[in-house]
Amino acid sequence: MLAPLKSLLSNVSMYVALQKAVGADRLRYRCLDELALRDGDTVIDVGCGPAYYFDRLPKVTYFGFDTSERYIAHAKARYGSERASFSTEIFGEQHLGVLPPANAVLLLGLLHHLSDEDSRHLLRVASQALAPGGRVISVDTCFAPGQNRISRWMSDNDRGEFVREPAAFEALARESFADVSGEVVDTATRVPSAHWMMRMTSPVHVAAA
Ligand SMILES: C[S@@+](CC[C@H](N)C(=O)[O-])C[C@H]1O[C@@H](n2cnc3c(N)ncnc32)[C@H](O)[C@@H]1O
Repeated sequence: MLAPLKSLLSNVSMYVALQKAVGADRLRYRCLDELALRDGDTVIDVGCGPAYYFDRLPKVTYFGFDTSERYIAHAKARYGSERASFSTEIFGEQHLGVLPPANAVLLLGLLHHLSDEDSRHLLRVASQALAPGGRVISVDTCFAPGQNRISRWMSDNDRGEFVREPAAFEALARESFADVSGEVVDTATRVPSAHWMMRMTSPVHVAAA
């Protein structure tokens, strides 16, 4: 991504405004709709950023994690409550057994920022964080066969260093989940783009007792 735009996006309000301007918010809402969350569910949101979609959630118990202090401070100020906590931490094994089992783990716009090794590790921990019947959903910029030139330019110039083809995201997910499905979404945003939305259920690994 071009350096000036990268630095603009580290400004929280600018990030949220740009997401809404290009329609990236619709992709997030679509993921949340897919999950059909209910009051009382537990949600872990890894790479939550400013969590501008928080108001779309029902009355869940929510744990947001992000490595950016600025994003977390913004989210905490807006949405922090007894049932919503935000931490500047990398979500990992240390959280298993400490947080309640999750009905859903959100990875919205995260995996294309992580290397294969980091994605593999996160997907494994996410699978172990789930309650029975729980599911993980991700959405990421991807390289899609047949995408037009503008869409391809968007994928090439994304902030994420690990934009992949759908099969590569899926292969990583299959190491931790028996049930993986997904689709390329190329109509949600106002500018041509390609995103891979992926649903993951049925963890392969069981958390150590
Ligand atoms: C594209 S943003 C997505 C933010 C939010 N989920 C959304 O959909 O608007 C990716 C986020 O991942 C965060 N991030 C990057 N690496 C991370 C990691 N290892 N653990 C947690 N967050 C991370 C970044 O700080 C950034 O906020």
